[in-house]
Amino acid sequence: MVVKTIEWKNNSVIMIDQTKLPQDLVFVKCTKYIEIANAIKKLIIRGAPAICVAGAYGLSLAAIESKAAAAEELIHDLENAKKILFETRPTAINLSWGLEKVMQAAIKHNSVNKIKKSVLATANKLAIDDVATNVAIGKHGSKLFGDNDVVMTHCNAGSLATVSYGTALGVIRSTKEIGKKVKVIATETRPIQQGSRLTAFELKYDGIDVDIIPDTAAGYVMANKLVNKVIVGADRILLTGHVFNKIGTYQLAILAKHHQIPFYVAAPLSTFDLKHKPDDITIEQRNPNEVTNIGNNKTAPEDVGVINPAFDITPPSMINGIITEKGILEQPYEISIKKIFETK
Ligand code: MRU
Repeated sequence: MVVKTIEWKNNSVIMIDQTKLPQDLVFVKCTKYIEIANAIKKLIIRGAPAICVAGAYGLSLAAIESKAAAAEELIHDLENAKKILFETRPTAINLSWGLEKVMQAAIKHNSVNKIKKSVLATANKLAIDDVATNVAIGKHGSKLFGDNDVVMTHCNAGSLATVSYGTALGVIRSTKEIGKKVKVIATETRPIQQGSRLTAFELKYDGIDVDIIPDTAAGYVMANKLVNKVIVGADRILLTGHVFNKIGTYQLAILAKHHQIPFYVAAPLSTFDLKHKPDDITIEQRNPNEVTNIGNNKTAPEDVGVINPAFDITPPSMINGIITEKGILEQPYEISIKKIFETK
């Protein structure tokens, strides 16, 4: 997509309001860091790499808002803002990764002016690097896809989940750019419908062939050989190769393995978490309304119990390859992931 998901303009942050898509392509302007935190919470901006950049720009706004006269005071204000931004969403590691990068740059300086400059420069660099990283992921990933492939994807790991171009959908874009014909089957991705609202929107916007299916049709589509590959993004990837991604990814991986359909994950190295084990990670639990309603229409009885996790974990044994900006990682992931970080 030509339009950027998030951009810094005249001391403010402009982002696409993803809650309004696909009906309206409208933009939200944030001038205070708390507005960014609220935008992340409300899914006005979502997707792991996009919230990384949003968090970094949130700190840039916090730096502008700060009335601090001394460096220590400014760092203190930034730490407070960082805490609030960090607490918006717990599962995608990219958010904390981006916040850390900005803070590391800030603490290197000892004047208010220099700290403010370095905070914004770092956030801008993260935004620029995101696009280059996605293009590199796309180039590597396109080697795995052939002419006339029909590829299933889940949620939205596209331009709208990043600054631009996308990770999983970046691979699709790159495959098309090198002249291969590719068609996408996008799962609807209940309850928030990132697949039908966002993935279908951006692929159609770019003239890429896409059909949507209800999540419940994934088995039918695979059993009837209507797709021959699956590709998804990721919110966090552990050293073991466990992939945290949008709820429903795990069941797609099981189905794909059963039907011998290659299942790929595309993600930047900023999505990797080399420190934690699966049980250490908080899976965000979202509002029951998302399940008991479709839009404003109630589709469940009053007071019914709801389980609404936003993410699940796909074990490494079900993943045929993890596509990064540095190349394609293969099993055993513990070894290939270690190696890529050693040579980084
Ligand atoms: O809840 P969301 O919409 O932020 O979840 C997004 C996903 O799960 C994406 O697949 C993931 O962030 C990868 S985006 C490049």
